[in-house]
Amino acid sequence: MSERKLILVIGGTGAQGIPVVEALSASPNYSAIVLTRNLTSTRAQTLASLPNVTLLQGTQDSLPSLHAAFAHKPHGAWVNLDGFTLGEKNELFYGIRAYEIARHHGVKHYIWANTDYALRIAGWDERYHWGHNDAKGRIGDLILAHGRGEREGGLLGGMAVSLLTTGPYMDMLFDGMYLPQEKEDGSFVWRNPAANGKIPLIALADVGKYSLWILNNPLQSTNLNLAVATEQVSFPDIAATFTRVTGIPATHEPMPLEEYLPLAEPYPHAYANWALGPDTPRDKSVMTWRENFSAWWRFWGEGKGATRDMGFLDGVLPERVRSLEEWMRLVRYDGRPRAVLKGLEDMRGGKGTRTGEGNKVV
Ligand SMILES: *[C@@H]1O[C@H](CO)[C@@H](O)[C@H](O)[C@H]1NC(C)=O
Ligand SMILES: *[C@@H]1O[C@H](CO)[C@@H](O)[C@H](O)[C@H]1NC(C)=O
Ligand SMILES: *[C@@H]1O[C@H](CO)[C@@H](O)[C@H](O)[C@H]1NC(C)=O
Ligand SMILES: *[C@@H]1O[C@H](CO)[C@@H](O)[C@H](O)[C@H]1NC(C)=O
Repeated sequence: MSERKLILVIGGTGAQGIPVVEALSASPNYSAIVLTRNLTSTRAQTLASLPNVTLLQGTQDSLPSLHAAFAHKPHGAWVNLDGFTLGEKNELFYGIRAYEIARHHGVKHYIWANTDYALRIAGWDERYHWGHNDAKGRIGDLILAHGRGEREGGLLGGMAVSLLTTGPYMDMLFDGMYLPQEKEDGSFVWRNPAANGKIPLIALADVGKYSLWILNNPLQSTNLNLAVATEQVSFPDIAATFTRVTGIPATHEPMPLEEYLPLAEPYPHAYANWALGPDTPRDKSVMTWRENFSAWWRFWGEGKGATRDMGFLDGVLPERVRSLEEWMRLVRYDGRPRAVLKGLEDMRGGKGTRTGEGNKVV
């Protein structure tokens, strides 16, 4: 086995980043350095305990940090910025700068953790614009445009570029917006503003495997927007699958956005980056929580993100989790809340599964 290639991971302590770092560590082909704000956080320490993983202190929104990270001359980079803390404007700026700095330092393969560019996909209808997805999607378009240009110029030399586009996490059925409520009669209900469109849900545990495939197969993965999903399902599908797996009756009760938003809002008139508190200075580019989530529910609920090529994904990752039903059985889904990362752990502990074996790839 030839030497391990170094991969810089930005966003390694996030819900997608953790399975990616684990997959790199478990593969004989790679070692990882993880840029992290806080070296002593529990998640950072857990990652640092894995073989061939080292931490590097720094932040995603600092040009000196980005230069220092890429100065380690990694072979590849896997970059997922945290749009929720950065906000749309900063995510755009640092997303583009991270990519440019990677090029400056001669990275061979750049993986951008992308999201659907909802505004463009919805035909520039502003009712489908929300900051987090569109910031990533715009940068994804820019990166592919450069990559394609290079190839057309007869040279694949510069830097291989790949997008790994994820939609909502299947794991969100454990918490947050996709958690059902249990009724007094023991049945479950998903009450939300989703229409009956198909949503490309992705099981987080497969994100690491897709990332390894991209790195292991640069000729196939360069210039590729690998848009992944485990299955594209509507909320009525989710309820029916739940009943098939658990035997418990379940329904989807759609409710109008105007009814849903006031109930779900973290506090009245919250901004999209509400967690920073009501008094954080903000300019007029920051969307309100209601604007942000209205677009989010519209886009996914109407099935506008159901663009995944499932046959292609079967070819890329034959061992992938194939369906919502398979996932529910693997994690023993029961409709009750669980922390998303806990769900990942359960999946790894799942009996006799390919996921239980760790991170073997095609
Ligand atoms: C390591 O790289 C080789 C060559 O690209 C590939 O065939 C193999 O599947 C990779 N192994 C893992 C576990 O990623
Ligand atoms: C870093 O993480 C540790 C452990 O969770 C925590 O005690 C500390 O306050 C954190 N430091 C910063 C600067 O956030
Ligand atoms: C990777 O980890 C193994 C096992 O801990 C160790 O023997 C090896 O030296 C490490 N390689 C690199 C490049 O860090
Ligand atoms: C808006 O909502 C999405 C969907 O949950 C979220 O990921 C994002 O962080 C929110 N905030 C901003 C600033 O876009």
